Amino acid sequence: MRHFTNVKDLGNLNEAVKEALEIKKNRFAYKHLGENKTLMMVFFNSSLRTRLSTQKAGMNLGMNTMVLDINQGAWKLETERGVVMDGDKPEHILEAIPVMGSYCDVIGVRAFAKFESKQFDYEETILNQFIKYSGRPVFSMEAATGHPLQSFADLITIEEYRETARPKVVLTWAPHPNALPQAVPNSFADFMNEADVDFVITHPEGYELSSTFVRNARVEYDQMKAFEGADFIYAKNWSAFQDPNYGKILSKDRAWTVSDRQMAVTNNARFMHCLPVRRNMIVTDDVIESPRSLVIPEAANREISAQTVIKRILKNL
Ligand code: CP
Repeated sequence: MRHFTNVKDLGNLNEAVKEALEIKKNRFAYKHLGENKTLMMVFFNSSLRTRLSTQKAGMNLGMNTMVLDINQGAWKLETERGVVMDGDKPEHILEAIPVMGSYCDVIGVRAFAKFESKQFDYEETILNQFIKYSGRPVFSMEAATGHPLQSFADLITIEEYRETARPKVVLTWAPHPNALPQAVPNSFADFMNEADVDFVITHPEGYELSSTFVRNARVEYDQMKAFEGADFIYAKNWSAFQDPNYGKILSKDRAWTVSDRQMAVTNNARFMHCLPVRRNMIVTDDVIESPRSLVIPEAANREISAQTVIKRILKNL
C-alpha cells in the first residue's frame, strides 16, 4: 500500500480484517518495520482518539512520531493557488508540504471539510496536495469526505461482536447543534457496502448522502422501521450534502436521538458511535452506558486499524 484514503486501498476487506485481528493479538510483532522511520501526523482540526491511537500504532511499529497542529504554533497556511497573500496566512501549503515531507517517512493528515466550497471539499484538495507534493506515503486521519481509519476500526469491531453470519447494520442520522461533515457516514457506508452485512441508512429527508458512497444501500426515511431487527445501530450526525443546502443544518429534531424507544425494536442491537458524542442529542445516557454499547471497544480498535494501515505502508517503503 502506498497511500490510504478509502476502503479500496485495503484490497480484500476480509483479509484486511483478519490481518488486523492478528495484529491485535501481538501488536509488537512488527516493531522492526518502523525502526529509524518517522511518522508525522498533521492536524488541521482537533482530535483525541486519532491523535493518540495513531501515535500509539506508530510506536507499536517501532517508529518515531511527530505531531504538528497547524492551528496551534505552526504558521497559518494558505491552501489556494493564485491568492495574493496579503492577509493573515504567512505560509503557503505548497511550500509547507514538501518541507514536512523532508522530515519524515510517512504522513498522516487530518483536514476536515471547510464548507466554503463543495468542490474544494469533495475533490479532497488538501489531502491530495499532500499526496502530490510531500513525496511520502500519505494516509487519511479524517479528510473532507472520508474517515477510513474510523470505518476500518468499526468493521473490526462489528466482526468481533457479530452474533449472526450476516448482521443487519443501520446507520442513523441523529441531531447535533453544529454543522458536521459527511466524512464519517460516507466512509461507514463505503465500508459497509463492501462488507458481508445487510446495510440500511436512515435519516430525515434532505440529508441524502452522496450516491458515490450510498451506492445500492437501502435508504429508509422512517427511523423506527429502519431499526426493526437491527443487530448494530451506528449513530452519527451529518450536515446536508445535497445542493443548495451543502453544509447546512436542516433539522435538530430530537425525536431522532437514539433512545430505548428505538432500541426496543432492534434485535437487542449493539450501539456504535465514533466519538466524540453529544449525549442526549445523538444518544441518551441510558443507551450509551448500556452493556450493549460498543463505543469504547470501537475507539480502542482505532489503534489496530491505524497499525494495520501503517504496517502495510511500511512494508511497501
Ligand atoms: N473518532 C475520532 O476520529 O475521534 P477524534 O476526532 O477524537 O480523533
